[in-house]
Amino acid sequence: MVSTLFLGALLILPGISVSASACLERPHGYCKQLDIPVPITANTAIYDIPRVDNDIEAVAWAIYDATRTTIHGPKNIIKNTTTSETFNIHAQLCIPKSNKNGKHNTLQIATHGVHYDSRYWDSEYKPENHSYVEASLKAGYSILTYDRLGVGQSDKPDAYDVVQAPVELEILRQLTLMARNGSLYEFASHAKPSNPSFKALETPHKVVHIGHSFGSFLTSAFIANYGPLSDGAIITGYLYTENLASAGSTSFSVEYAATGSPPFNRSSGYVVCQRDGIQNIFFGGNPKTAFTEELLEYGISIKQPVPIGEFASAFSLLENPGPSFRAPVQFLLPEFDFYICRGDCHDLFNLTALNQTYPHATKIEVALQPNTGHALPLHNNATAGFQLMFDFFSRNGL
Ligand SMILES: *[C@@H]1O[C@H](CO)[C@@H](O)[C@H](O)[C@H]1NC(C)=O
Ligand SMILES: *[C@@H]1O[C@H](CO)[C@@H](O)[C@H](O)[C@H]1NC(C)=O
Ligand SMILES: *[C@@H]1O[C@H](CO)[C@@H](O)[C@H](O)[C@H]1NC(C)=O
Ligand SMILES: *[C@@H]1O[C@H](CO)[C@@H](O)[C@H](O)[C@H]1NC(C)=O
Ligand SMILES: *[C@@H]1O[C@H](CO)[C@@H](O)[C@H](O)[C@H]1NC(C)=O
Ligand SMILES: *[C@@H]1O[C@H](CO)[C@@H](O)[C@H](O)[C@H]1NC(C)=O
Ligand SMILES: *[C@@H]1O[C@H](CO)[C@@H](O)[C@H](O)[C@H]1NC(C)=O
Repeated sequence: MVSTLFLGALLILPGISVSASACLERPHGYCKQLDIPVPITANTAIYDIPRVDNDIEAVAWAIYDATRTTIHGPKNIIKNTTTSETFNIHAQLCIPKSNKNGKHNTLQIATHGVHYDSRYWDSEYKPENHSYVEASLKAGYSILTYDRLGVGQSDKPDAYDVVQAPVELEILRQLTLMARNGSLYEFASHAKPSNPSFKALETPHKVVHIGHSFGSFLTSAFIANYGPLSDGAIITGYLYTENLASAGSTSFSVEYAATGSPPFNRSSGYVVCQRDGIQNIFFGGNPKTAFTEELLEYGISIKQPVPIGEFASAFSLLENPGPSFRAPVQFLLPEFDFYICRGDCHDLFNLTALNQTYPHATKIEVALQPNTGHALPLHNNATAGFQLMFDFFSRNGL
């Protein structure tokens, strides 16, 4: 990719867009980078949480967050506020080359978790084995991935009072509305560089939602609150039980992002995992067979800082009842997920409880991906895990 880009830069001549389209092309599809202005209005709050401006305060925040008496809920609110703003959200839209049974008219909207950005879904390391985006294109699906607010190439507003769960839920809703009414594809058709594959795209017939970790907090709350906007969902690396996050934020092994290694251009309140924190949270299973040193290094190389307001506000996404969701949902759990299942996802799910949350779901399924930790795409058997997801779609007419 890097060499193609370099070559591309040399080849740009007036009226010729060869280099641009070459860079957009994937083995099984075409991808376009987008910077989408997303206007939102959401309920936010000023929380009673510590400030973080250096490494000592970063670790002190993690201990505070993991302390058994710390309140994660509305009682921790000093003042309720409203945030009304237009944020720049960086996204990537990919469409498959082939039309397999109309699957290209199904658009997946994938929301990544904390400590990563949208590259989580699109590994540049051995993409044929570890990129969910590549696998989706190969399976014939379109897919929108985006950097959540506060990470990657999206806007990075105040870590305490702005980057909060209800704002992010609203961003997901606006992106979904844009996908459903055609304005997303319209936007993509005009975005530079121009490419014939993105002209005259038919509005997606179906929009399905995929989440990972905190992206699954958001996705599960999204389908609960806005059921009619989703034609199906796959919730990966997330299950609401007493084990969820019981390992605590100290397991992230955080440092202050602005002075971390490497340092990130971030303001007060952004923290980032050190190497061992990434392994603690994201890698699991037998270290001889579940993942490689290269995969762990890649996982460390794409880490992203987290704004601590996200942790204070996450409670609002839990236990949202979803009677309006009338579509299929799969919960895909990595067998040895440390952060979600405290290292063992066997026998944790309760289909009766899931059914009570989504009483009109047309299908509720729980699947376990063997010998895998939280970051499902970054384990050796990732493609087989992706296949569980595509099989679920196929079985349910998606
Ligand atoms: C903020 O709003 C929540 C939810 O409506 C409410 O429970 C809480 O008491 C409010 N807090 C303050 C300080 O107004
Ligand atoms: C990795 O991808 C290659 C090329 O598609 C394939 O031949 C190989 O079986 C894959 N390996 C695994 C472990 O999925
Ligand atoms: C589509 O939805 C977006 C997001 O809500 C909205 O801003 C836009 O005006 C809508 N466009 C059309 C053509 O309805
Ligand atoms: C750092 O971030 C600020 C605020 O987002 C931005 O204005 C500035 O250009 C960034 N600096 C660099 C070197 O990227
Ligand atoms: C499963 O959830 C239902 C509904 O909440 C509850 O009544 C039942 O006791 C739970 N089963 C187990 C084994 O925890
Ligand atoms: C949920 O439970 C109801 C009542 O037992 C049942 O009719 C329905 O099929 C269940 N839904 C799923 C998706 O299992
Ligand atoms: C890889 O994953 C698939 C799908 O879950 C599973 O059937 C298979 O046993 C796994 N292989 C190994 C070696 O764990």
